Parts: sequence; structure tokens; C-alpha cells
Amino acid sequence: MSPSKLVVIAASLIFCVSLFLPAFGQEAKPIQLPEPKLDQSKPLMLALKDRKTTREFSSGSLSQQTLSNLLWAAFGINRPDSGRRTAPSAKNWQSIDVYVATAEGMFLYDPKGNALVPVASGDIRSLTGTQTFFKDAAINLVYVANLTKIGEGEEAYKMFLAAADTGFIAENVYLYCASEKLATVFRVTIDKAKLGEAMKLKPDQRITAAQTVGLPKSGK
Ligand SMILES: Cc1cc2nc3c(=O)[nH]c(=O)nc-3n(C[C@H](O)[C@H](O)[C@H](O)COP(=O)(O)O)c2cc1C
Repeated sequence: MSPSKLVVIAASLIFCVSLFLPAFGQEAKPIQLPEPKLDQSKPLMLALKDRKTTREFSSGSLSQQTLSNLLWAAFGINRPDSGRRTAPSAKNWQSIDVYVATAEGMFLYDPKGNALVPVASGDIRSLTGTQTFFKDAAINLVYVANLTKIGEGEEAYKMFLAAADTGFIAENVYLYCASEKLATVFRVTIDKAKLGEAMKLKPDQRITAAQTVGLPKSGK
């Protein structure tokens, strides 16, 4: 084969490979969520009656509407004038960021923009806990305390406040799931170093807990 033909073949090969490369290394894109729907839930007392931990999930995904509603219930802005949230937080420091691990990637919930901002691509749902029962579930929420937002005290005290803030958000998620017949489990058994690395967290960001949300196994 002549050298010029070889050059043409090599150039064509490089062109073809370059066409496919973006698909492999693709970064997850920001997701604009639909407005949360606030007018379609069970009465609070019935949601409380049905609140429970479930550790069996079907593999179906959640719609963007459900995701929007769920995240708003978890820690959305319910008083736009002041930016205050659906869950209380110590001194309104709003120390907890809610991350969402989906099959597409890891996202940060942006309550102001009602959007999911990508922080890592690829499916790292299995890294959000050391147990295995949640492998089929649609999403895993990861609660991350930003200690720089907590203005005062020793680190142990800041972690106590962060844990309390997390609990309120998690209960909102439990109640939303009870109301919408979704399955959920709050979890603290996490390899935090490994997950933190995958999420590219900064030293002042501390994982407090995770919470799986998904479709229940039928009949559960
Ligand atoms: C602080 C805390 C940590 C928990 N950690 C885990 C966990 O790591 N793994 C798990 O499967 N369940 C975990 N759970 C769920 C509890 O086991 C569950 O809430 C408890 O058994 C009561 O069940 P119920 O939620 O259905 O009332 C945790 C719950 C709380 C409040």
C-alpha cells in the first residue's frame, strides 16, 4: 500500500474515533426540573400513618416531576421572599446540600434554580452505601454538610447541628414517599471517604447520611 493511502486511512480512522469519543466521556448535563406540584398529596395524618422504612425496590426510574416534588419537599424553598426552606436548620444556616445519585450521574440540587447541577458523571449509586439492597433503586440522596456555613462552635458541635438538620430533611422525604407510595430508607452505613472522593467534595464538606428513594417492589 502506498504511503499516501496509509495516511488517508489513518486520518479516516482518527476522524471516526473522534466522532465516538464524546459519547464515551460525556459529562452529565444540568437538568432543569419542572415546577413542583404542591396540590396533590395525601393528608399529613395519612402520610404519617404510612411512613415507614422499606428495603426492597423495583428498578424503575422516577419522573422529573416526581423528582422535583420530592426535592422540594425535602429541602426546597417554601418562602421565596426570604429563601427559607421546607425543613428547619440551625440558625437558618441551611448547612445541608442535597445531592442526587441517578443512573446518569451525581447531581447537586439547586433549590433556587429548581435544577440538578452535575458534579460527577457515571452511575455511582452503589457507592452511596455499604449495604446492597438498594442497588435497583432509582435514586440515592446524599446529605452533605457544609461546615463553613455553620458559624460557631467546635467541629463535634457543628456535626451535631448538621446531623439534626439532616434528620429534618430526611423526615420530609419519608413523608413525601409515604404520600406518593414510594419506597425509602435512610442510611448511615457509608464509606464516606470513597464516596466523598467520587463526589469531589472539599475538606469542609462532610457526608452526614444517604437516603434511597425508588419504586416499591409490587405488593410491598
Ligand atoms: C439515624 C438513623 C440511621 C439509620 N441508618 C440505617 C442504615 O444505615 N441502614 C439501614 O438499612 N437503615 C437505617 N436506618 C433505618 C432504621 O433502621 C429504621 O428507621 C428503623 O428500623 C425503624 O423502622 P421504620 O423507619 O420503618 O419505623 C437508620 C435510621 C436512622 C434514624
